[in-house]
Amino acid sequence: MTTTHPALTAEEEALLPSDEDVRHYAEHGWYLTRKLLTDDEVDTLVAAADRYYAGERDRRLPVRPPKLAYWEPAKGDVQRHNDYVHYEHDALGRILRKPLIGAVAARLAQADEIRVFQSTLIYKPPISGEPSNIVPWHFDKHYWASSSSENMLTAFIPFHDCGEEMGTITVVDGSHRWREIGADDTVVRHFADRDRDQLEAMLAENAAHNHAEIRKIPMVIPKGHMSFHHCRVYHGSGPNVSDRPRQAVSLHLQDGANAWREYPLSDGTLAAYNHDVLVRRTPDDRPDYADPEFCPVIWRHRAQQGG
Ligand SMILES: [Fe+2]
Repeated sequence: MTTTHPALTAEEEALLPSDEDVRHYAEHGWYLTRKLLTDDEVDTLVAAADRYYAGERDRRLPVRPPKLAYWEPAKGDVQRHNDYVHYEHDALGRILRKPLIGAVAARLAQADEIRVFQSTLIYKPPISGEPSNIVPWHFDKHYWASSSSENMLTAFIPFHDCGEEMGTITVVDGSHRWREIGADDTVVRHFADRDRDQLEAMLAENAAHNHAEIRKIPMVIPKGHMSFHHCRVYHGSGPNVSDRPRQAVSLHLQDGANAWREYPLSDGTLAAYNHDVLVRRTPDDRPDYADPEFCPVIWRHRAQQGG
C-alpha cells in the first residue's frame, strides 16, 4: 500500500510501520515504533506534566465520572494515574494528537480513522517496594465492553528511555488471539479492584486453555519511540527499581467505526465507560464515542485523488 498522506511530511511517511510491521502486529499484538516524537516534543511533555502535577489545567471535566483515575498530591507517593489529560491540558493534548501517531495506529488497526479514546498520564515513583507500581495482568478490552470495536489499541509513550528496570510495559506475545475461558464477566471491573494472584492465575488458565505458552516481552523503548498494543493483548508492568520516576502517557485509541453498544453484564446492569456521563448523545440517544470534545479525531485517511 503506497497511499500518500498529505498531513505527513516525507520524513514522517518513512516512520510508518511497513507491511511486515503490520503483519507482525496482527500476529503478535504489539509493535515498537520508530522515533515518532522529537526530543523537543518529549521534553515539552515532561515540562507540561510537571505543570499538570502542580495543578495547571486548561479546563476541567464538567462532572466526575464514576471510575475516574485522578491522582492528587494528598494521595502521596503511590503510582499516579490521571485520565482525560488530552481534554484537561492543552500542552499535553497537542502532542498526543500528533497526526503521525494516529497514522501509525491507522496502519496497525487497518482503519481509515483514528480518534482518541482516553489518555492517562502515569508516574511511577522510584520506590522499588511500592506495591501500587505493579500493574497486574489484564487486557484493556475488559474495561471497554461498552465499545463495539475489537480493534482498539493503545500507544504507551514514555517520556525518556524506558527499560525493564523502570518497570516498562510488558506484553504477553500473541495473547490477543487467545479465546477466553468462561463467562465470568466480573473481570470487566477495573483491574485495581482485583486480587493480583487471581489475575496471575487467570493468565495461566487462559494460556492453558489455548495450549499457549506465556511469553512475556518487556517493551524496551528509547526516548521518542513508543509501543502499541492490541486491546486484547494481556499486559502488565513491574516495579520501578531505577533511581528515576517512570513517566508516560497511555494513549488509548479507537478506530473510526467504534461506537457505544449495549452490553449486558450478568448482574443485570449494562457495561459502562466513564465517557457515558460526559459525551454528547447520538440521535438515537446513546453516548457518542465520536464527540470531538472528548474523543477528537487525530487521523483520517485521505483517499487519493480519483479514489
Ligand atoms: Fe492496560
